[in-house]
Parts: sequence; C-alpha cells; structure tokens
Amino acid sequence: MRRKVVAGNWKMNHTPCSGAEFAKNIAPKFEAGAEVVFCVPYVALYAVREAVEGFPVGIGAQNLHFEDSGAYTGEASADMVLSTGAKYVIIGHSERRQYYNETDETVNKKLSKAVLKGLTPIVCIGEHLEQRNQGITEELLRIQVKIAYRGVNVDTALSTIIAYEPVWAIGTGVVATDEQAQQACAWVRGVFGDLYGKDAASKIRILYGGSVTAANAKALFAMPDIDGGLVGGASLKPEFVDIVNAAK
Ligand code: PGA
Repeated sequence: MRRKVVAGNWKMNHTPCSGAEFAKNIAPKFEAGAEVVFCVPYVALYAVREAVEGFPVGIGAQNLHFEDSGAYTGEASADMVLSTGAKYVIIGHSERRQYYNETDETVNKKLSKAVLKGLTPIVCIGEHLEQRNQGITEELLRIQVKIAYRGVNVDTALSTIIAYEPVWAIGTGVVATDEQAQQACAWVRGVFGDLYGKDAASKIRILYGGSVTAANAKALFAMPDIDGGLVGGASLKPEFVDIVNAAK
C-alpha cells in the first residue's frame, strides 16, 4: 500500500509570521492518514516548521541549488534547507522551468543532491497544452522521467515522490479529468517500471497537481495510480484541510 501524500505549494505567498499563523490554525484539523507537507518560501521554512511542531506535518522548500555553496547569489543549498528542519523539496516545478530556465538536466542535478543530503524531493513533470494536443504527452513524460532519474539507483529513486502536473492545469482552474490524470500517472509509473522494475513501480508515489480543490480531490485521489496531490492555490485556503482529509 502506498501512503497518500498531500503537499501544499505556497509559491511566493506568506511571510514567516502569516505563514506560521496559517499553519498553526489548520494543522490540528488534519485527520490521520495522508502524509502532509507544506512547501513554503525559504524565509518562512523555520517559522512554519516551528509552528507545526508536534503535528504530523512535514515542511519543504520549493527549490534548491545543486551546489553545496559558492557564488550563487540568491540561491539556497540543501544544507541550508535542512538546517531549518525541512525534510522535503519541490524540484523542477513548471514555473521554475518557465521563468528560471530549469531543464531536465538541472532537475537531475538537484534531485541527486537532494537525495544525497537526505531531503525528499517532489519531482515535477508535465506537458504543455500544445504538447498534449500534439499527442506527445506520453513520450514527453518518458523523457522527463528518464533524464531526471539518470544515475539514480533504485533505492534512492524510491525515496523520491513524483508529481505529474500538466502545465495547462496549473493555476488555471482547469483541472485534468480524473481519466486524463490517471492515464498520465499510469504512464509515469510505467516509465519508472522500465527503469527500476515492476516492484519499484508499484511502490513509487505519484501525485497529481493542477487546480486541485476540495471539490475534485476525492475523485482524483481515488484513481488507482494517483497517490495524492500537489496543491497550489487551494493550499493557501482553509479548504486545504478538506483536500488533505479527502486522501485518508
Ligand atoms: P494550482 O498549482 O493548484 O494552483 O493549480 C499547482 C502547483 O503549481 O503545484
């Protein structure tokens, strides 16, 4: 049985103060079941982690640099993230790919660094609308997964989480249908199986992300290959509690 994961991606929202207050308010309302993660801005990591102390909520960053230190103005390393008590990190989010030139190659470097340091990466992949319309979603996901996991052994790969996020569904209010999301997650599981074998494929957790709300979460999470969600906009609202509890 794969334990469901519901991760909130706060993106560039909340200060340490407002984030801690929000986290403190909703953390007691989660029912036992899913693994819950708040992925928050770097500057809020420590405060939010402190705010949920004693609750089964993990904290994650939204990015990291693949080098340990150096002249990389504005960046943060895995050790810096870990020093706040955070245990997770989102890697390769489509907004990072779109606005900060992240590529499958940098995703591979960041993933490798994160697992080496003991962080759990939430590795984002997904197609643009044009690519879906061209009928190349399956091939594209295959390429994204193969490059992201290049040089990563099976045990390490199993310590990661994959998030399938169709770019056209992120922040648009247009959610993939349950069938579209299921099919893509099944494709991703298939690629993972080609790389690491059937047993590993049955264990890797694959989330769906893109306009998940309290209204659509339950049906999405009930699909056989969907092991939870990566939630953006709705993770900033009290509604996030219902999304988490839909994954019980
Ligand atoms: P959304 O974002 O839920 O606001 O569509 C999802 C994400 O970016 O991870």
